[in-house]
Amino acid sequence: MIFGRVKPLDAILETAAKKSLHRSLGAFQLTMLGIGAVIGTGIFVLTAEAAQKAGPGMMVSFIIAGVVCAFAALCYAEMASMVPVSGSAYTYSYAVMGELIAWLVGWALILEYAVAAGAVSVGWSGYVVGLIQHSFGIHIPDSLVLGPFDGGLINLPAMAIASLVTWLLVIGTKESATVNAVLVAIKVTALTLFIVLAVPVMNTPQFSPFAPTGFVGISMAAASIFFAYVGFDAVSTAAEETKNPQRNMPIGLIGSLAICTIFYMLVAAGVIGAPGLSTQPVVDAAGAVLEPGSRELAQQCAARAAEGFKDVVCSKEALAFTLREIGWPQIGNLLGLAAGLALPSVILMMMFGQTRIFFVMSRDGLLPRAFSKIHPTFHTPHVITIITGVFVVLFSAFFPVGQLANISNSGTLFAFAAVSIAVMVLRRTDPGRHRPFRTPLVNITAPISILGCVYLFVSLDHKSIILFVIWAVIGLGVYFGYSRSRSHVGRGVIETHEDDAGIPPPPVPPVN
Ligand code: ALA
Repeated sequence: MIFGRVKPLDAILETAAKKSLHRSLGAFQLTMLGIGAVIGTGIFVLTAEAAQKAGPGMMVSFIIAGVVCAFAALCYAEMASMVPVSGSAYTYSYAVMGELIAWLVGWALILEYAVAAGAVSVGWSGYVVGLIQHSFGIHIPDSLVLGPFDGGLINLPAMAIASLVTWLLVIGTKESATVNAVLVAIKVTALTLFIVLAVPVMNTPQFSPFAPTGFVGISMAAASIFFAYVGFDAVSTAAEETKNPQRNMPIGLIGSLAICTIFYMLVAAGVIGAPGLSTQPVVDAAGAVLEPGSRELAQQCAARAAEGFKDVVCSKEALAFTLREIGWPQIGNLLGLAAGLALPSVILMMMFGQTRIFFVMSRDGLLPRAFSKIHPTFHTPHVITIITGVFVVLFSAFFPVGQLANISNSGTLFAFAAVSIAVMVLRRTDPGRHRPFRTPLVNITAPISILGCVYLFVSLDHKSIILFVIWAVIGLGVYFGYSRSRSHVGRGVIETHEDDAGIPPPPVPPVN
């Protein structure tokens, strides 16, 4: 029963065939696409959280997370090139492992996308609030710009940006290639400037002790910082539009991950070595390392700031904070501006991804049909966009960025592991099918990817793991209570669609 109700691959591919995109992307464009999708809150904000978990050892965490992503990416790319339709991991699982697993993957992707959008909104808020304070000298009370776990009450700027992005999506905004290119340039320039200013003045004694929390701390930081790489699946899903995918896809995937890893490590080194800053984890009176995003850490940070300590792990805008403290206050503000301009596009992409998954699940009958209703004027799935938006706004209002990122990671890791299993299963059950891209050494690559995902998953904080399990149990309840009896595949309805679910089609005008 577990693996029953497989959606026929041929039906899925018929939908894809109707789409038939032009193959235009080369290795360079793919690499840029990857960098654009990946760089965001992870490096701009979570660097502080990773430093709290691992100290200077977070540089190793960046490598571990990057390597796991690289293996997962190679598996993702085979499925994406074979089954180039909307719904990504959800659709792949439906075709290979059946409806129940697909449902669980789709349910986990809600965590990946919607919760991640919340995390990036909170990250954006930290930078914009810092920018306003340092550029205009306006101090906004903590109670209005931080959630309750961070020493505030409600994060109004994060709610505002999440609402704005929801509205943009409802009226049908899609980022153009030009806007994306400009934003990639802004992000890369900001990080490069940071590296150029911070790395040469590094104070090497600050790298010792290198691993104050041991390998466990490094693993925990890797599990959090994994968030900084999320989004590379955007490259995999462009497989169908890629020229010579067997060559260009691995270059694009591994290239963008490698470039990001190098950037991230240099940025991490600049933060850790910044002269005058305290960059080791903040501990309580008994010497225990405090949990990022906890009230205890917020209190300890406030107490230490009053004593004159400059703890980078306490900053909500670690990179801007570092630049200001090493004597570049104006560039620090510019970096804040860069984050303020570029991060909303990451929120947009995440929320767009979420609405797309919901749309496909609803079209398959697993979620209410009303969810995929299209707005008569804007031609967007407004109902599901607004529902998604409400949740993202609530997440961003009350939860700390690190917690949201970890919860999002739990869903992403589950989905990546499922895709890696799906690749191996399909090689056995359907070996003859055309694969525009084949995962190299799949019998080694896929198991490493699965083990890597499991390792990072168990390295997440307990709260996130428990929340994931609760979320999965709720998902099973919804599946057996609602979706299973309404599933189109379950009822024997095999559909192919004229359009793919990227952007729903405009309504067909009535024939008189
Ligand atoms: N990788 C994206 C970020 O760090 C999700 O914001």
